[in-house]
Amino acid sequence: MDFTVLAERDNADPLAAKRDLFRIPADTIYLDGNSLGLMTHATAERVQDVVQRQWADDGIKSWNLHDWVNLPSLVGEKLAPIIGAAPGQVICCDSISVNLFKVLSAAVKLQEDRTQIVSTQDNFPTDLYMVQGLSQLLGAQRCELTTVDELELVEQPSRFINQQTAVVLLTEVNFRTGRRLPLQQLIEHAHAVGALVVVDLAHSAGAMPVELDTWRADFAVGCTYKYLNGGPGAPAFVYVAERHLQRLNQPLAGWFGHAQPFAFDPVYQPADTIKQMLSGTPSVLAMSAVDAALDAFAGVDLHQLREKSLALSELFLELLANYDFANAFECISPAEPQARGSQLSFAHDDAYAICQALIEAKVIADFRAPNYLRVGFTPLYTSYTDIGVAVERLATIMQEESYRAPRFQQRHAVT
Ligand SMILES: Cc1ncc(COP(=O)(O)O)c(C=O)c1O
Repeated sequence: MDFTVLAERDNADPLAAKRDLFRIPADTIYLDGNSLGLMTHATAERVQDVVQRQWADDGIKSWNLHDWVNLPSLVGEKLAPIIGAAPGQVICCDSISVNLFKVLSAAVKLQEDRTQIVSTQDNFPTDLYMVQGLSQLLGAQRCELTTVDELELVEQPSRFINQQTAVVLLTEVNFRTGRRLPLQQLIEHAHAVGALVVVDLAHSAGAMPVELDTWRADFAVGCTYKYLNGGPGAPAFVYVAERHLQRLNQPLAGWFGHAQPFAFDPVYQPADTIKQMLSGTPSVLAMSAVDAALDAFAGVDLHQLREKSLALSELFLELLANYDFANAFECISPAEPQARGSQLSFAHDDAYAICQALIEAKVIADFRAPNYLRVGFTPLYTSYTDIGVAVERLATIMQEESYRAPRFQQRHAVT
C-alpha cells in the first residue's frame, strides 16, 4: 500500500477540512455513514445547550424564546438546497415510514380514477409495507401494490407505468445493492402517462446532488440519520412540490398541521403551506441535533461531494483488486460508478463474520441479509488514507482467516 500517494490525494482534497467538524472514534475507519452518520462537534454542543440551558433554564418559554416551535420549518429550509428544492416545500418531521404514509395517501387521493401503485421488488421493506397497509385500509379497489424488477423498470418503463398507474414509488439508491435509478427519466415517463411520483431519498440526501424541482418530483421523503448525520432515529423530512400544496389531503391530520394550531379549533383546517404535513409536537432534542448537523454542509458543492464519493469507492475497488482473496467477494453494486449511490456491496458466504471481524479491527461496515457486506463512503469525513487502512485491515483478516473465530459467528439483534 502506497500511503504517500493517498496522503497526497488527501492534501489535494477540497473537502478535507470538513473532517475536523466530526467526532471520529480513535483509530477507527468509519464506513457506515450509509446507515448512521457520525456526530459533529457542533451537534454535541447544541444538544448540550438545548438540554442544559434552553430546557433547564428557560423551560416552556423556549418554544418562543428559542424558536422551538419553528424547528420543523427551519430545518426543512436548511435541507431544501441539499435536495434541490426551492423554499416552502420541505419540512422536518416524523420518520420516513410515517411520512410515506402521509404522501402516499395524499397522492392516491389526487388520483381518484386510478388504483395501482408501482414500486420495485427490492425496495426498502418499509416503503412496501406502507403501501400494503394503505391498501388494507382503503381496499384493493382503491389502492393496489404492483412490484417490478428494478432493471426491467429502467429498461422498459412503459411496460409497468401506464394509464392504470396512480403513483410510482421509487427509492433512488437501493439499500442492498447501492444501484441508483435514473429518477429524472422515470419521473418524465410517469408524468407522460398521468402518474404521480413519490421518491425515497434515504441513501441520496447528503451523498450526491438531488434535483427534486428540476426533476419535477411530486413528493419525496428521506431520513437525516445517514449522510446528513442527524443522529440515531433523527426526524425525517418530507417534500411536496409547490403545485400540489393547495389541493393536498393528508390523513394524519394533527394539530401542528392545522392552519392555526393555537386556536384549538375542534374542526381540522389544514395549513395551506408545507406545514400541513406536520402531525404532532416536534421532537425538539432530536430536531435540534439535525439542525446543528446540517451546518456541516455549509459551502459544500454537492457535485464535488459526489466526485469524492465515487473516487473513494473506485479507490476501494482498485486496492481490493490487488489481493487474491478479492475473487471471493462478488461486487453486487453496478460497475459503472454513475449507476451507484455512495456504497459498495459485496456478496460473500462469510459476509456476516467478516463484518464482525472488521468491526473488531475498527473498520465499521455493516451486513445485510442474506450475505452482503456493505461499505459506505461519506465524503465529508472519509479520507483516501482511510480507504487504504480499511483495505489493509480487511486483507489481514482474510489472509489470517481470523473471521472464522466462533465469536464472529454470533448474530446480534442489529446487523
Ligand atoms: C430506502 C429506505 N427507506 C426507509 C428507511 C427507514 O425508514 P424509517 O426512517 O421510517 O425507519 C430506510 C432505512 O435504512 C431506507 O434505507
